[in-house]
Amino acid sequence: MAEAHARTFCTEKEDSKMQKMMIHYNDVPIYPIVLSENFDALGEALDGLMIKDRKVCIVTDSHVADFYLEQVEHIVKEHCAAASHFIFPAGEESKTLTTVENLYEFLIQNKFERKDMLVALGGGVVGDLTGFTAATYLRGIRFIQIPTSLLAQVDSSIGGKTGVDFRAYKNMVGAFHQPKLVYSCAETLKTLTSQQYISGLGEIIKHGLIKDAAYYEWLKAHKEAILARDTQTVIDMIAVSCHIKKEVVENDPEEAGERALLNFGHTLGHAVEKLMNFTMLHGECVAVGMHAAAWLSMEKGMLTEAAYKDITDTIASFGLPVSVKGLEPEQIVAVSKSDKKMDKGRVKFILLDPEGHAVIDRSIRDEQLLAAASVIVRNGEQS
Ligand code: GLY
Repeated sequence: MAEAHARTFCTEKEDSKMQKMMIHYNDVPIYPIVLSENFDALGEALDGLMIKDRKVCIVTDSHVADFYLEQVEHIVKEHCAAASHFIFPAGEESKTLTTVENLYEFLIQNKFERKDMLVALGGGVVGDLTGFTAATYLRGIRFIQIPTSLLAQVDSSIGGKTGVDFRAYKNMVGAFHQPKLVYSCAETLKTLTSQQYISGLGEIIKHGLIKDAAYYEWLKAHKEAILARDTQTVIDMIAVSCHIKKEVVENDPEEAGERALLNFGHTLGHAVEKLMNFTMLHGECVAVGMHAAAWLSMEKGMLTEAAYKDITDTIASFGLPVSVKGLEPEQIVAVSKSDKKMDKGRVKFILLDPEGHAVIDRSIRDEQLLAAASVIVRNGEQS
C-alpha cells in the first residue's frame, strides 16, 4: 500500500507536464520513457541516441501519417543523417508477415545497416510490427517507440514485446526486443476517436485492479476529467500506469512469472476479440474479459460480491462494454484454449485476490471457464 501511495503521490505534483522514468533490467538502465504534453522535447531525447550519422526510417500507418508524420519527420531529420518513412494501411489486418516483408524490402532498397534505426510512430499495431521488424532485420537493429494511442502509451510500447498476427492467431509470431526510447506525447490523444480513447482506459483500469487499489480509486474519483481528456489529469494518469507497467516488466522482462499478471482480462478478452473479427477494439475486449475474470474471482471467494459489482459498474461507467452479443460461450472457451497463454495445456488465468492484487491461477476447470464465458454473453442485451 505504501507503494501505491508513492505512485499516486506523483500525480499530485504541480507542473508535471513532462515526466521521465528509466526502465532498468538487473539494475542496468536500458531506456527512458519520456511523457510530455507535446513533441518539443523529442529532439533532445533523440540526441541521446547518437544517430547523427545514421539513417532513420519512420514506420507509421495511413491514419497516423495524416496527423503526425510531417511534424515528427521534421524533428527526426534535424537529428540524423537521413530520414525516410514507410506507411502501411491502418488496421489490425496489416499486422502480418507480409507487411513486415514489405518493410524489409524498403529497408534493403534504401540500404539500411545494423546501426541505423526505426521509429514506430502510431498505436499498438505500428509499435508491435516495427519492433518485430527491428528485432529481425539484420539480426536486430535499434528502434524507438512514439506511441500515439492511449493503449500504446500505457501498455504496448513498454516492455519490448513485439510481433505480428499469424493467420487467425493474434500476436503468435514475435520476439522480445527493447526500444531505445519511448516518447509519449499527450497531445496525440486529442485526435483519437472517443472509442479509441476509451479502449485505452480498459488497460488503465486493469493496472489499478491488478497492482494498485489506490490508483483504481483515483481513477474513479477523476472520471470526469479523464473522460474530458484534461491534459494534466491524463499525463498524471499515464505516468502512474507507466510506473506500474515499468515495475512489472523490470521484475520479469520475458514473462517467466509476474508479467503474466498484465494478462488480466486477456484470456477470454482475446477470444472475444478474435471471434468478433476485430470489430471491437482491444481495450473493449479486455474490459469484457475483466468482467469474466472478476466474476471468477468472486466465485472462488477472492472478491466480495460488492467488489465484483463495483468493478463491473466502474468499467461500464467509463463507457466500456462488460458483455458481448452474438457469441456462444462454448466458442469463447474453445478459442481461448488455442491462445498462447496456455501452460502445459491448462489455461493460465489471472484473478483478483482481492481488487488491487492479481494472482496467477492454473486451477480453472473447463466448466468454470464456460460459466465465466456465459456471464459475459448472457448479459448481451443490456450492454
Ligand atoms: N501487454 C502485456 C505485456 O506487455 O506483457
